Amino acid sequence: MHDLLATASAVADGVLELRRDLHQHPELGLDNPATQQRILDALDGLPLEIRTGIGLTSVVADLDGASDGPTILLRADTDALPMSEDSGEPFCSQVDGRAHACGHDAHTAMLVGAARLLADRRSDIHGRVRFMFQPGEEGKGGAGVMLDEGVLDGVDRAFAIHITPNLPVGWAACRPGPLMASTDEMHVTVRGRGGHASMPYLCTDPVPAMATMITTIQTAVTREIDPFDPALVTVAHVEAGTTTNVIPETAFFEGTIRCVSEQTRRRIREAVERVCTQVAAAHDCTAEVDLVEGYPVTVNDAGEAARFAGICEATLGAQSFVPLPSPVMGGEDFSMLLQRVPGAMALLGVCPADIADAREAPPCHSNRMRIDEAGLRHGIALHAAMALDR
Ligand code: NI
Repeated sequence: MHDLLATASAVADGVLELRRDLHQHPELGLDNPATQQRILDALDGLPLEIRTGIGLTSVVADLDGASDGPTILLRADTDALPMSEDSGEPFCSQVDGRAHACGHDAHTAMLVGAARLLADRRSDIHGRVRFMFQPGEEGKGGAGVMLDEGVLDGVDRAFAIHITPNLPVGWAACRPGPLMASTDEMHVTVRGRGGHASMPYLCTDPVPAMATMITTIQTAVTREIDPFDPALVTVAHVEAGTTTNVIPETAFFEGTIRCVSEQTRRRIREAVERVCTQVAAAHDCTAEVDLVEGYPVTVNDAGEAARFAGICEATLGAQSFVPLPSPVMGGEDFSMLLQRVPGAMALLGVCPADIADAREAPPCHSNRMRIDEAGLRHGIALHAAMALDR
């Protein structure tokens, strides 16, 4: 396996160039046509069977090995975030209000590198490797669209890497069971009766009702949820009223609900709905509670997570593997694939070289997020190793 890292280094130059090119031209959501074209150009000439998406600009490329065997899917996401970039990199985003701040440019480039590497080692492959390039990870559920378009047909196992600047270069992390959280949204409108702020007794004020809901939801989290199977609720946006002397007719708040088990997810959703409806009633108001289902919990197969740990040490060297003690509360639509086939997602360290403590590196989704591109070859090698080992 050690030679995989050397082989990965040999293709790393082209991968770095592709990553910077994607980084300068970020695209959002399900529609990433320029990114798709760059992927197709980069795969051109390789012995792959390629098809593109219908409802989104995906690329699926199959590499058949020397003999029959299982099909392993390797996935990279391709979309960027609607935000500005202040990384200070010379190759920073050239599009206002768009940035590759979650490293999906690196994921895409690493997977192209893995395709090149594995195409060269076709004779070592027993079975088929499917390369999945997926737009729309950031809230658009691109994985679900690709599932509907058959990306998992015939697939036995699935694997993906997510980079993180909060781990040193040369390290990778994984864990069996939940790796990332579910990501439901709540949107609550509290309806009262507006009027003069000096005469609340002639109105029905939705503001104290909303305030009570927000604090009671947090009480429900601590009183109704097992602390070892946690839920996290953040009210991130609150709106009511227009000025000091008018009681508004409505108040509104919204936020996110994160869990690491489907059981707790059901429970906290019920609690949010109940608290909002009944607190509203107690205040003679009504509440419209809109719970929007997001991504499910990302659950790694225990066997695949253990296999990754072994492959990581064999590929990147002893002590390169970090067993994650707990899940992270971010979300991932790779979860939808892991609901259907066994597999794993791993986190790859790309902490910038000038930051001594990786915990202090600007994380994914930060406008200042940067990566050390030395980690790209590790990602290429790990992708390839997960396919070859199978
Ligand atoms: Ni991401």
